[in-house]
Amino acid sequence: MKTRMLYAILATLLATPARSKYIVPGGRWYDTDGELISAHGAGITFDQKTGRFWWFGEYKTEAQTEGGGVSVYSSEDLHTWTSGGLALSPVEGHPYISPENIIQRPKVAYSQETDDYHMWWHADNSTYGLLLQGHAVSSTIGGPYSFVDATAPLGNWSQDFGMFTDYQDGRSYALYSNGDSLYGRDVYISAMNKNLSALETAVHRFPKFDLEAPSIMHTENGYWALMSHKTGYRPNNVVAFRADSLSGPWSQPFIIAPLNTRTFNSQSGFVLRIEGSKRTTHLYIGDQWDSNTIWESRYIWLPIQTDGKNLELVWHDVYDLDVKTGTWTPVEGTTYTAKNAKTHGDAYKQEANFATDGIILTGIYGNDSTVTFEGIEGSGEPQWISFYYQNIDDMGFGDQPGGTPDRIGGSWQLRRISSVVVNGDTSNVQTLYQRDTHKGIILSTPLQLTLKKGKSNTITVGGLYNGFDYKGADLDRIVVYPPEGK
Ligand SMILES: *[C@@H]1O[C@H](CO)[C@@H](O)[C@H](O)[C@H]1NC(C)=O
Ligand SMILES: *[C@@H]1O[C@H](CO)[C@@H](O)[C@H](O)[C@H]1NC(C)=O
Ligand SMILES: *[C@@H]1O[C@H](CO)[C@@H](O)[C@H](O)[C@H]1NC(C)=O
Ligand SMILES: *[C@@H]1O[C@H](CO)[C@@H](O)[C@H](O)[C@H]1NC(C)=O
Repeated sequence: MKTRMLYAILATLLATPARSKYIVPGGRWYDTDGELISAHGAGITFDQKTGRFWWFGEYKTEAQTEGGGVSVYSSEDLHTWTSGGLALSPVEGHPYISPENIIQRPKVAYSQETDDYHMWWHADNSTYGLLLQGHAVSSTIGGPYSFVDATAPLGNWSQDFGMFTDYQDGRSYALYSNGDSLYGRDVYISAMNKNLSALETAVHRFPKFDLEAPSIMHTENGYWALMSHKTGYRPNNVVAFRADSLSGPWSQPFIIAPLNTRTFNSQSGFVLRIEGSKRTTHLYIGDQWDSNTIWESRYIWLPIQTDGKNLELVWHDVYDLDVKTGTWTPVEGTTYTAKNAKTHGDAYKQEANFATDGIILTGIYGNDSTVTFEGIEGSGEPQWISFYYQNIDDMGFGDQPGGTPDRIGGSWQLRRISSVVVNGDTSNVQTLYQRDTHKGIILSTPLQLTLKKGKSNTITVGGLYNGFDYKGADLDRIVVYPPEGK
């Protein structure tokens, strides 16, 4: 008996894959097969039957950035994701789900009434001329889902799609912006029928705010609707509205993240409610779209902090989330600042009153003008390192009238790219994408690196070609986090 138990425990230990324990917004996230997770414009559904979280999103590859269908991944803990392939596959020649169609922002909810799962999404043609909502069903949450139809919600247009299920009464709502035309520019909350087979009635219209990417969360302090402005794939300041009831009256919108961070370079899309044994946590599920290589756009997931009157997103490089208790804890790292780094070539230290030590590393360019952080303690295992940087390219949008927020006629440079080399090993150059921030705004972006055990590691940062130039962004500091699972 005892031996059997020991074997059972051993088998469990051996079968348990190396677990990532942390949530690392903006990192490259891989599934259990070692593939980059591709599930953009996501919806995440906790399924009572399987006891798992199911992440649905737009499946994008380098060769197929739209019309790739809906991917699905599942997880017990929101850290370790197993791919379930395509939940909705594109069908050649189909009017609404062919590889030429737009299949965006899928969401899935369970209907108690019909005991099956309903997927809804923004269904469109490649020029966004249809503005419909697609609907597909499956008897199991993972799918495959069968296409039902694509319709105009209550006779209106529908662009960015969101879905909200109220924990209090189980009712689901479709959330959608109704396009960019003068007659649109609204966002709707419409109640769905209990079968989740159609929309029943418009509950509220946010008139003419011209916002998109809507999501809703419900706390003890009411309903909060999060939406972004409309700036294409460039991020902007996401706003929230508050109300006691879904039908309103809704408050004035307010900005939810520090100004000029453009919501930490992300767009809203979904809020996941995690009801733990100790507390309920709401996670902001955002996209860090990267229009240069949209298939590898990153995910920005952050805990939402609310009190009665306010809602805000606070950045954490790395946090430890326990879905069983609903609690999350920021992980502490070790900081190495610009002041102690070595510069090479034309890279230099410049006064910057907003920087950690009043000094920022600038002039980083190509492989000659680099900076090196020394004496870094490593664990010998992969660990996350956050690079705090400033990129002042000012993300213009030169080819569109009115689209140059900070610079007249500026060309759009979404990101700089830095090279990151550990211990001088130039045969293993890592690429670090450093999105535009703003002047004086320092944000961080993570890489998972393996350092030697001990305190003698170096990290050298140079500049790589971003399509325009070899400039690396200015560096303020790096923060080295303990390995996962520790
Ligand atoms: C809802 O589903 C039930 C069970 O399948 C069915 O009997 C009923 O006709 C459906 N109602 C609507 C409005 O589709
Ligand atoms: C998309 O639909 C609109 C409205 O029917 C139409 O005008 C447009 O030509 C369509 N685009 C494509 C690529 O078929
Ligand atoms: C359809 O959209 C228009 C423009 O937003 C609005 O005036 C109208 O009330 C909407 N109708 C319904 C049923 O939602
Ligand atoms: C340095 O960069 C140049 C391009 O600027 C490239 O041709 C060269 O191969 C690079 N050298 C190393 C060692 O990476």
